[in-house]
Amino acid sequence: TENRLWGGRFTGASDPLMDLYNASLPYDKRMYEADLTGTKVYTQGLQKIGLLTTEELSAIHTGLEQIKKEWESDTFVEKPGDEDIHTANERRLGEIIGKHIAGKVHTGRSRNDQVATDMRIYVRENLTKVLEILSQFINTILKRATQEIDVLMPGYTHLQRAQPIRWSHWLSSYATYFTEDYKRLKQILERVNQSPLGAGALAGHPYGIDRDFLASGLGFDSVIGNSLTAVSDRDFVVETLFWSTLFMNHISRFSEDLIIYSTAEFGFVKLADAYSTGSSLMPQKKNPDSLELLRGKSGRVFGALSGFLMSLKSIPSTYNKDMQEDKEPLFDALTTIEHSILIATGVISTLSINKEKMEGALTMDMLATDLADYLVRKGVPFRETHHISGECVRVAEDLKLEGIDKLSYEQLKKIDERFNEDVKDVFNFEVSVERRTALGGTAKSAVLKQLSELEKTVSQ
Ligand code: ARG
Repeated sequence: TENRLWGGRFTGASDPLMDLYNASLPYDKRMYEADLTGTKVYTQGLQKIGLLTTEELSAIHTGLEQIKKEWESDTFVEKPGDEDIHTANERRLGEIIGKHIAGKVHTGRSRNDQVATDMRIYVRENLTKVLEILSQFINTILKRATQEIDVLMPGYTHLQRAQPIRWSHWLSSYATYFTEDYKRLKQILERVNQSPLGAGALAGHPYGIDRDFLASGLGFDSVIGNSLTAVSDRDFVVETLFWSTLFMNHISRFSEDLIIYSTAEFGFVKLADAYSTGSSLMPQKKNPDSLELLRGKSGRVFGALSGFLMSLKSIPSTYNKDMQEDKEPLFDALTTIEHSILIATGVISTLSINKEKMEGALTMDMLATDLADYLVRKGVPFRETHHISGECVRVAEDLKLEGIDKLSYEQLKKIDERFNEDVKDVFNFEVSVERRTALGGTAKSAVLKQLSELEKTVSQ
């Protein structure tokens, strides 16, 4: 009886809370399609090595199709023993085609290579979608930049007015970040798209399955060359989370600029109603909630990355259940970036700009560098001209003049006799901007060139 008692303890029901704690179906069922596709190709591989007959294979595929329809139409009935998407689908397959055939599906396979396969398929699909909407987002920015190429605004360092730039140059700057993100994501996708299937639980496949066949059947570019690594590698999750974090960092800085530019103090941009909210108390308020959420959600995505890295760092070789903790942060990050890209696209395509405010914020002191450059062109060393121009700023301030452009020719001449009549040409924002024709600069030709380069990159 004592044996039976112990035996009973081991074979009896587990703690219901443990079942809940252990189950991943509530969140991994979103991978149902990847799981069914994985099984479809895996069973083709089994048939190829004589472990399934063609009749068995076709029964399995019919069953898998039906399960897919059930998930799609939301009629799949989950049962208490369904620990995760893999067990749920296999259980259901047994109900549809009978346990005898369904019981052969998992031959040589483990949930370890199965889940790694499903995850890679799922991530690949999502990142491909991200690439698509990201390129649309970038194109929206580029279009806007082309249309508004003539608008000038202050460029800032330390959030202090620095030099005049084109508004399009600012847009192009973020488009450049996002295009690097686009390129980086393509590189990550290459590493995601490798096949773990056929690695078994850890040691490899005992029936000599053709792993290249499985890989190409599932659209993978290559096979992971070590079965232990195949089941335990989650670097593709880390890279996806890192990518998402860095992208959201760019989104956050972009949003921060626009939040500042949308204040009454700046008044450069105005958000469309569709992306703003009002205040429950102050009737006059129009708050840039969309941008604040974009900024705020960058923290959440970074949390997903740092949290999962902590989970991963001490997992011993091959599969351990800790790995199930890859899913929620990954799924949450993917949803967040997809939504964020769409919202950011909406914001930037509906935003209105106030050209008068932007150009009105330009002040003559922002041309102090140009004044120094004027003397450089007369052969004076820059270190010296910087000093002379600084003196002009100080004298204009002392005389309580509105700006350095208000210094008379005589006053300038007194500061440095190398000033000539043509110095008045310096005090023109358009001229200043148009001097910066070198690659990457703010002159119209240089900005247009940036825009077309970026467009070329994201259309590849
Ligand atoms: N739900 C599990 C996960 O997401 C599937 C793999 C389970 N493997 C195992 N040996 N218990 O990681």
